[in-house]
Amino acid sequence: MEKKLSQLDRSVAGKVVLVTGAASGMGRATARLFADEGARVAAADLNEEGVRDVVSEIVDAGHEAVAYGLDVGNEAQVESVVSSLTEHFGGLDILVNNAGISLPTPIDGDEYAARWERSIQVLLTAHTLTIRAALPHLRQSESPRIVNIASTEGLGATRGTSPYTAAKHAVIGLTRSLAVELGPEGITVNCVCPGPIHTGMTSEIPEDAKKEFARRRVALKRYGDPEEVAHGTLSLALPAASYITGVTLPVDGGLTIRNA
Ligand code: NAI
Repeated sequence: MEKKLSQLDRSVAGKVVLVTGAASGMGRATARLFADEGARVAAADLNEEGVRDVVSEIVDAGHEAVAYGLDVGNEAQVESVVSSLTEHFGGLDILVNNAGISLPTPIDGDEYAARWERSIQVLLTAHTLTIRAALPHLRQSESPRIVNIASTEGLGATRGTSPYTAAKHAVIGLTRSLAVELGPEGITVNCVCPGPIHTGMTSEIPEDAKKEFARRRVALKRYGDPEEVAHGTLSLALPAASYITGVTLPVDGGLTIRNA
């Protein structure tokens, strides 16, 4: 008979995970992957119809998931969703802060102030709202995990997207600071930095432009798929990832390591 030789667990089966922005792109892929791995999924999104469809797919495949309509920038809604899902599932083990928007604007653009405010609210402040609401429940978990989705835009910069770039740099700072603050309680806080990925956010970039960008800049010469990022997130959320905290994991096909 086979005997297990190691101690730590590489399964999230039975864990409760909240994925924000789960109606599309990487959030959808993350919800589906965690469900495949046996986790119980709370899928939240501003797009209520979209997130209900994702949950239907998960439930039809024989897994457990519940859909929540949620604007992650709204504190009262965040508190209400966390309260509902913890009541439904009996707790919360893993929080994936994934919801995001891209609102490009030059610094002297007419819409700058509004785009700055909404970007910071959805991409940065929202992480603090979900973490604050989730914390009492994560404290009850045997392997509490927080994974924040930043971006390679948190490690470098592109012209004309300063609200997004500033917010994503700040998500890395928030991740590091909370890793230090929550470490004594065994709560890990890590960050994934996706590179160029085929999702709703990049769907309006013409295919030719995507191919050319990938050819010039990405070591693997292609855009990534949402599921490839979801696997990075899953790795940081495993019970076995118990000594990994405060890290920034690029899932970028080698974008950030290329000099030429
Ligand atoms: P997506 O547009 O396919 O999905 C984003 C989801 O977030 C949508 O379902 C949307 O409804 C939801 N959302 C937007 N605002 C929300 C709010 N206030 N409350 C709740 N849900 C909200 O985009 P994608 O690419 O899957 O984005 C996921 C994360 O990945 C974002 O944080 C984004 O900044 C980040 N990212 C994306 C990259 C890419 O190349 N697609 C690269 C690096 C980072």
